[in-house]
Amino acid sequence: MHLPRLLQERFRESLASLTDRADDYAAMIRPTADPKHGDYQCNCAMPLSKEVGRNPREVAAEIVDKLRIDDICETPQIAGPGFINLTLKTDFISTSLSSLLGDDRCGVDPVKSEKSIVIDFSSPNVAKPMHVGHIRSTVIGDALARCLRFLGHRVVTDNHLGDWGTQFGIIIYGYKHFGDPEVVAANPVQELAKLYRIVNQLIEYRKSKRSIASLEQGVQSAEQAVQEAEEFLEGAEDSKKKAAKKSLASAQRRSQSAITSLNAATEKVNVVESDPVLAERAKLHAEIDQAVLEETAKLHQGDSENLALWEKFLPHCKDEINRVYDRLGVEFDHTLGESFYHSQLQGVVEKLKQAGLAEESDGAICVFMDGFDAPMIVQKQDGAFLYATTDLATLQYRLNEFNPGEILYVVDTRQSEHFEKLFAVADQFGLEHVKLVHVNFGTVLGEDGKPMKTRSGTLIGLESLLDGAVERAKQVVCDPDRLTTFDPPMDEAEQEMIAEAVGIGAIKFADLSHHRTSDYRFNLEKMVALDGNTSAYVQYSYARTQKILENAKKAELDIIQLVEQHGIEMTHPAERNLALMLMKLEESLVTLHKDYAPNQLVDYLLDTARAYSKFNENCHVLRAETPQIQAARLSLVCLSGRILQLGLQLLGIGVVPRM
Ligand code: ARG
Repeated sequence: MHLPRLLQERFRESLASLTDRADDYAAMIRPTADPKHGDYQCNCAMPLSKEVGRNPREVAAEIVDKLRIDDICETPQIAGPGFINLTLKTDFISTSLSSLLGDDRCGVDPVKSEKSIVIDFSSPNVAKPMHVGHIRSTVIGDALARCLRFLGHRVVTDNHLGDWGTQFGIIIYGYKHFGDPEVVAANPVQELAKLYRIVNQLIEYRKSKRSIASLEQGVQSAEQAVQEAEEFLEGAEDSKKKAAKKSLASAQRRSQSAITSLNAATEKVNVVESDPVLAERAKLHAEIDQAVLEETAKLHQGDSENLALWEKFLPHCKDEINRVYDRLGVEFDHTLGESFYHSQLQGVVEKLKQAGLAEESDGAICVFMDGFDAPMIVQKQDGAFLYATTDLATLQYRLNEFNPGEILYVVDTRQSEHFEKLFAVADQFGLEHVKLVHVNFGTVLGEDGKPMKTRSGTLIGLESLLDGAVERAKQVVCDPDRLTTFDPPMDEAEQEMIAEAVGIGAIKFADLSHHRTSDYRFNLEKMVALDGNTSAYVQYSYARTQKILENAKKAELDIIQLVEQHGIEMTHPAERNLALMLMKLEESLVTLHKDYAPNQLVDYLLDTARAYSKFNENCHVLRAETPQIQAARLSLVCLSGRILQLGLQLLGIGVVPRM
């Protein structure tokens, strides 16, 4: 049930005699911002009046006159310059509400034209521990997959693992120089992570050491620019003062960020040089960054030793991420990592050359495109292929294998340029019939508004983040005072189960509640609060519905019978309001698909939970005045429970029967 679509159909018929663009005008139906103006509003009379050269109110009157809508709405009202306000009939709402009972899909019609949609998400670079940055892709991608699938699309999920990159060069080097085969064999996941950290630290040390001179120079010139900007401001005429202040502020920002970069590099150098063991290691492995690249290149060229190590390590790296996926309840149809495409890369480059798209430039093979400063490099001078080459091969494979209408890449905004280029090349490559979308997202920030890091400066591991959320959830939901109110008492196992559902739910919900393109600050307290815009609040609302149904001793089938027997009657505005919310699940899912924005569903669930809470405060179910009123209220409780549960499930979040 998609109310705007239903109303649009009626408007289209009415508009047909007035204009050729009835579809466009009918599409202007929106929910009203203020309930005073009814439930929906159509503002098409104003633009249409311009087209036909008549007074807008007169046009509105004519549209209303022709409108056949009295089975759904009260008489439409014309307001202001020609707004058409629509109020749904309470009878219509009651009938629609009862039709939701017993409907597994909660009134969401499957799409008429199903599409095959490939979703590339999560896609971490394995061999290094998953960190907070991976959460967004995983959670957003999983929610999109669930929602689009539920809408009736054929969804194929693919975890495009980074399982072939430099990070393997890093652990191979680490294993050869710092690894003890027995220790690694006994505890591979932890030991490989340790080796990764050792080598990575030495690489970072080298990089920092090399960059310090130029960073110092950067600080110097940034400070000089600040000084110049200050002098300019002092001498500036009044009319130029504002602009001068602005350029001073931006010079100061640049200087601040130059200082931050220099400090970070200095810190990395100091950590190593002040520790005799590390300092000795750094000296012995002076060429480490080059050596790691060589190990990676040897792997790609099929060197048997490195290939054997890669084969030995990869399953352990996968174990590590699978643990996180299990905990998050995330599954994939395919996990075709970068390594899967390795043998196809030369072919892609040849094809690009044959099509006249790729050419040699400074020894590298490049695709030049209008509108981009730099070309897309598909093969380096030394013969190595790049991330972009793999993505072209992947695209080709997906088109052949899955015949998709859309491919979604749920990847950090910082990779925008890569995807812009990829899509541009795809267009020239004759792949324009598939809709390619970079479903980009912003950064998770710490309390200080900077990308989230631990004290030691490394990115926070995903598992410790999940543990923290579950622990916090337990404190909130299972605090001793709350626990005394439960009968029968909650045993330890139930408490753990609730804490896990609420804690994991909190992280997912908080992430999904922001529009994906914005950055957000990670605040565990707020995320787990029972009374905020949180999953705990929605989960708690669900649990309240279950409690009422239990007290009423009514299952859905009983309620259906009651409704058949007595009919339903709504007498309180909170009932009508809640019923209307329950009819809008499809609307929120369709809007979600338009912009690939799960926050649409989050907002819908919060609105529904709030409407439920208002209803709960005002309308007693067990003491309802008449059987008709009770039938309506039981229907509302039952459907609120089901829709909140389904909505959360579509976000990948579970519910518990009581909390
Ligand atoms: N492994 C990449 C990274 O961690 C993300 C891959 C995204 N998917 C893709 N087809 N490029 O940055």
